[in-house]
Amino acid sequence: MADLDTDYVESRSPGHGRRAPRACFDSDAPRLELDGPWRFRAAAGLGDLTPGFEAPTFDDTHWDRLPVPSCWQLHGVGTPAYTNVTYPFPIDPPRVPDDNPTGEYRREFTLPGDWPAGRSVLRFDGVDSCFAVWLGGVRLGDGKGSRVPTEFDVTDALRPGRNILAVRVHQWSAGSYLEDQDMWWLSGIFRSVRLLSRPVGSLDDFFVHADYDHTTGTGTLRVETSGAARLTVPALGLTDAEPAGPHTFEDVVPWSAEQPHLYLGELTTESERVHVRIGFRTVAVEDGLLKVNGRPLLLRGVNRHEWDPETGRTLSDATMLWDVLLMKQHNINAVRTSHYPPSSEFLALCDEYGLWVVDECDLETHGFEQVDWRGNPSADDRWREACLDRMRRVVERDKNHPSVIMWSLGNESGSGENLAEMAAWTRDRDPSRPIHYEGDRDGGYVDVYSRMYADHAETELIGRGEEPATDDPARDAHRRQLPFILCEYAHAMGNGPGGLAEYQRLFEAYPRLQGGFVWEWIDHGIARHAPDGRQFFAYGGDFGEPVHDGNFVADGLVLPDRTPSPGLAEYKKVVEPVRISLDADARIIEIRNGHDFRDTSHLRFRWQAQDDGEPRAKGTLDVSVLAAGESTVLPWPELRSTGEGERLLTVVAELAHNEPWARAGHEIAWGQVLTGEPSKAYEPGLRATARRTADRLELGPARFDPATGTLRRLGDLQLEGPGLDLWRAPTDNDVLGPRLADRWRAFGLHRLTTKVLAVDPNGDGLTVVTRVAPAGSDSAMTATYHWRADEAALSLDLAVDPVGDWPLPVPRIGLRLALPGWIDTVDWYGRGPGEAYRDTTAAARLGRFRRSVDAMQTPYVRPQENGNRHEVRWARLTGDGGGLEVTGAFDLTLRRWTSEQLDEARHTTDLTPDDTVYVNLDAAHHGIGTASCGPGTLPEHTLHAGPTTLHLTLRTL
Ligand code: GAL
Repeated sequence: MADLDTDYVESRSPGHGRRAPRACFDSDAPRLELDGPWRFRAAAGLGDLTPGFEAPTFDDTHWDRLPVPSCWQLHGVGTPAYTNVTYPFPIDPPRVPDDNPTGEYRREFTLPGDWPAGRSVLRFDGVDSCFAVWLGGVRLGDGKGSRVPTEFDVTDALRPGRNILAVRVHQWSAGSYLEDQDMWWLSGIFRSVRLLSRPVGSLDDFFVHADYDHTTGTGTLRVETSGAARLTVPALGLTDAEPAGPHTFEDVVPWSAEQPHLYLGELTTESERVHVRIGFRTVAVEDGLLKVNGRPLLLRGVNRHEWDPETGRTLSDATMLWDVLLMKQHNINAVRTSHYPPSSEFLALCDEYGLWVVDECDLETHGFEQVDWRGNPSADDRWREACLDRMRRVVERDKNHPSVIMWSLGNESGSGENLAEMAAWTRDRDPSRPIHYEGDRDGGYVDVYSRMYADHAETELIGRGEEPATDDPARDAHRRQLPFILCEYAHAMGNGPGGLAEYQRLFEAYPRLQGGFVWEWIDHGIARHAPDGRQFFAYGGDFGEPVHDGNFVADGLVLPDRTPSPGLAEYKKVVEPVRISLDADARIIEIRNGHDFRDTSHLRFRWQAQDDGEPRAKGTLDVSVLAAGESTVLPWPELRSTGEGERLLTVVAELAHNEPWARAGHEIAWGQVLTGEPSKAYEPGLRATARRTADRLELGPARFDPATGTLRRLGDLQLEGPGLDLWRAPTDNDVLGPRLADRWRAFGLHRLTTKVLAVDPNGDGLTVVTRVAPAGSDSAMTATYHWRADEAALSLDLAVDPVGDWPLPVPRIGLRLALPGWIDTVDWYGRGPGEAYRDTTAAARLGRFRRSVDAMQTPYVRPQENGNRHEVRWARLTGDGGGLEVTGAFDLTLRRWTSEQLDEARHTTDLTPDDTVYVNLDAAHHGIGTASCGPGTLPEHTLHAGPTTLHLTLRTL
């Protein structure tokens, strides 16, 4: 009879017929990979199921095919939908909508003839969100918990030769109420499926306990096994030993994220050899600090969702490795697996390459906040088993990974007894790892005080142990003893985050502040194509979702295709594990090893002296090996400067040898200092007199519009402008949070008009006065341009003065001019090579750089202000037709569209170049901040309207 029982879909039960959770491991027991094309039918809901689809005789030849693993919405079945907090269905637990897209999957496989006797297990690593399984028409059971594994014992249903596996997967289920993470709603069998042989006498489970005593250097190894087994670890001299030991070893090499030493071994039984990887380390919270192997950690972390712009939450091994390598190369040392356990392959890479991991349970019920937490599953006994089951499945699966140093109960699930019980179960099962949950503010059942997006001032108070008291003195006292981490901070949405360096200074100043995890690693944009074939990345709302949260899903340090964004370069610099400080007055170099464990023997130090960015001398520095935490002071090398221009000394720490994650020469840290006066820019000498006729206004090589005083031509170069510009295409941090961009628009900053007050040619040059103001307002800026020239060059003194009230920060104060579209390259001397704004400058060093105009853009998923180069001394904008040189002290952006077009665009492909290059030469900018989620621009980075000057010299090339 057709099995159409679907009661499990709306049942709070985590599943039926499943095996008990256990560790995930590799062994030499046979396995059959069941990934690949499966037969697939998309059903609209539970009323549209295929009776008898599970029967081996069912004819599926007319069905489509769908790859396993995959997310079906990314294969044209249904559409992705993005919400942050809001459930995309009514809150009516455990019921879900009738419109419940359901995938019916079938696959045939042949059991190899030599498949061993014993038991066989069918393992699903990830199915979103709920499924039922049949083998050979026999129902095995059902399961929920999208990102934790589910196993069924299939021994009795498995047949020699041909077998038919049938799986029904439902997009929505009671489990969806526990999976309200801020991400795309995607469905299907999105991780691998395998059949595992469990031969008679094989091992079901084991638990490695490998502790390290930092006071003696002794490692203690104890492996609990589910059955009789022997342990061999050649490098520890263990052969066929009793796993339970305990075995002690003097002088083991401990495991740390900085030096991830693994001992490879084997557990053997009469029928199986199981690979084990052992990392000795002891995690503890003591003296109010989170320590590993006796040392407090400084977490330089990121929150990582699993994401690929083509395949969604299905990741290849190569993509996972790409993430790990990028993180290591950017000085990141920790990952919070927001907000669910990742593929176990990712954790294996963290063990191998070295990353501290906070492994988070697949639990979030954030949407209940919108109904004042009424009915929150965390506090409802009927959901207790579902919550506990998820926690057990993470802990059991991942318990043998040395990289995992903390368990996290989940994210944004309010509070409640179920969370407390999850913590209690975890503590009992694995007392070796502390427990994290941000929602437990008073530390009732967790071991670290964790917060998200606390601003700098509050973080500092916490660092001092002076955070505001609550009404429960006992809990306050308890909390104040806990170490503090920011499990999320520095929201990396669009341009930014600003203010990273200021956080890091606090983390390095207060021991209680043990670092944090930037939100987040990657933009979850979905690759799509515009009609003209160009690729762009889609975000919330692009699939017609009635409820969505727009581009809030694109808030990572890498763009969806894993191109590092400027934010990642900034983070790399801010968290560099070696600090190089140069003191120009004392002529000393101070080098501090900020690693938690590692000495500096893997590094070499180079220096370079530059005059006006031109290399003059270089060499290596002889730095003695510094233990973790140690520092040294060295005298300056002989700089051999010509004494001309602006002199710079740069010192770099780089890898001396190849590491598994980067090659020799890879830069880890740097420091730079100006050693002399800034160079003097070229100044026009002879004073040309401005000449005016009815239709001409000339000054030296320049021609101006006689009516408006606008510069139109310099030598042979046609141009338009420059004119005062106060606008920028609002960044995500301008748009969200306190909505500064709305205030800007209400004030009219995006629609300023210019009134010419004076065009005054005189013996000393030309003076032009304009008044720039929004309609309907008597606030304005007066811009006074004093032009002077000789036969070669033109210089400008701009004075900008506010008139009336300016009760809000200003996006920028500077000039915009338009140049011909054949300009395609820029060379500059100033900060670079990457984008930098006043609160994102750490990674931008002084030097000479060259980029194409196109490469000056940062293609944020939602177009917005980007690409600024900070503190530029000179820039040469060139192309086939010649070019323009600008000298002075300014910020520079160049783009092939206007700020207004940038502002209007929703996706990168909305921007098309016209035959003009728009150049901004700015005196100042408003900072970037991280107000899209967290603190806005710090006061010191706020641009207030005030008298501002800018001095520039222009020459044609
Ligand atoms: C946090 C949440 C994250 C993400 C972030 C904003 O509250 O834990 O999942 O939504 O805000 O991007």
